[in-house]
Amino acid sequence: MKKNIACIILAAGKGKRMKSNLPKVMHPVCSRPMLGYVLDLVKGLGINKNIFVLGFKHEQVEKILYVGAKVIIQKRLMGTGDAVKIALPLLKNFKGSILVLYGDIPLLKKDTVKKLIEYHIKNNLDATILTAKIDKPAGYGRVLRDKYSSICGIVEEKDANDFQKDIREINTGIICFRKDRLSEALRYVRLNNRKKEYYLTDAIGILYKKGYLIDGVVIPDINEALGINSRSDLAKANSIMQLRINEELMASGVTIVDPASTFISYGTKIGKDSIIYPFTVIEMGVTIGKRCSLGPFVHLRQDTHLQEDVEVGNFLEIVRSRLSSKTKAKHFSYIGDARIGRQVNIGAGTVTANFDGKKKNITVIKDKAFIGSDTILVAPVEIGESAKTGAGSVVVRNRNVPDGRVVVGVPARLLKK
Ligand code: UD1
Ligand code: MG
Repeated sequence: MKKNIACIILAAGKGKRMKSNLPKVMHPVCSRPMLGYVLDLVKGLGINKNIFVLGFKHEQVEKILYVGAKVIIQKRLMGTGDAVKIALPLLKNFKGSILVLYGDIPLLKKDTVKKLIEYHIKNNLDATILTAKIDKPAGYGRVLRDKYSSICGIVEEKDANDFQKDIREINTGIICFRKDRLSEALRYVRLNNRKKEYYLTDAIGILYKKGYLIDGVVIPDINEALGINSRSDLAKANSIMQLRINEELMASGVTIVDPASTFISYGTKIGKDSIIYPFTVIEMGVTIGKRCSLGPFVHLRQDTHLQEDVEVGNFLEIVRSRLSSKTKAKHFSYIGDARIGRQVNIGAGTVTANFDGKKKNITVIKDKAFIGSDTILVAPVEIGESAKTGAGSVVVRNRNVPDGRVVVGVPARLLKK
């Protein structure tokens, strides 16, 4: 099957309605560019002939594609019909069907697209459209059906009359075409006067008039069809994707007390029997071991690694730091650029002063150290194994505390043994 399918992924658009300098497909959903999810989909389908149509700031977009990805640049953004047309010459010797995917539909699942392809092939169709029935179809192209209920065209919102606007079946944008039919239809697609674009969707009406076979597959979960055109759509996609990520983590043995108020980036690894309390925010590049306790109110930023049995909670920010097993930081703190050993106790209000105005410096805290409440550790500095800092002490840069010793005061001084 896969040999007879090629894929064209449209991702050239600027995303005018996003009002952004970032290309639309690069806007993050759960911290990952939305095109990343489409890349996963393509990979999951096992289709190996893929053409990416890029345009607006394509250098930026190219960076997230896999090595060797075939790219064609659409210099003038003349619409989805034009985008597909310029990709076709790259598939000159290919015979079979072409799956068109849009880069702004990140929630689409592999199985859904698989079913579409299977239906297309099994029924020997010329074009098969993935459609959805939604209550508020505003913004989407509407699927037109003739009196026999066969699909006879797609009309875009802007060109639809009031009657057509009432149609609740929409075009998700995902269409599978027999390649020769697609090439033929694109020759007849005319510039849309209102939008000054060539619509790929016009190909459907053209094929219908020529008597070719068109059918649709209705998507069961309408969330999958969400196309992102605005920041509001982006927020919706984000919350749906977040719930999916959280569900997966729960299925793998992580307790999430309130999934709706827990924000975990795509790809975060969390060990079994960890428990996450509300208002925990985890950015990209964070790993968490088994049996950890996080939150409420914790912000874990990039390159933060918690080993097993670590407890962090109640108003903490941690960035570029490692906390080894059984270490606790349970009340408001800032931990940045720190290497923290095992069984360390970080008291309430501890701050690593990691930035000297020019660069970030490292704080090392060795195993079993005890950091008293309200300690400020001015980096670079090292706290020895089983050493202690008194409440309110300020440990000055490079004044390392030897193993087993106690420092107190401002600036912190060694207590006599
Ligand atoms: C499109 C469909 C609409 C469908 C909706 C689903 C058309 C004409 N309309 O509308 O029927 O209901 O998607 O979400 O196809 N792109 C290019 N080059 C261009 C223009 C667009 O590569 O010149 C890319 C965009 O980057 C985007 C995709 O094509 O990834 C879709 O374009 P967009 O402008 O978002 O189309 P919609 O208005 O959402
Ligand atoms: Mg769109």
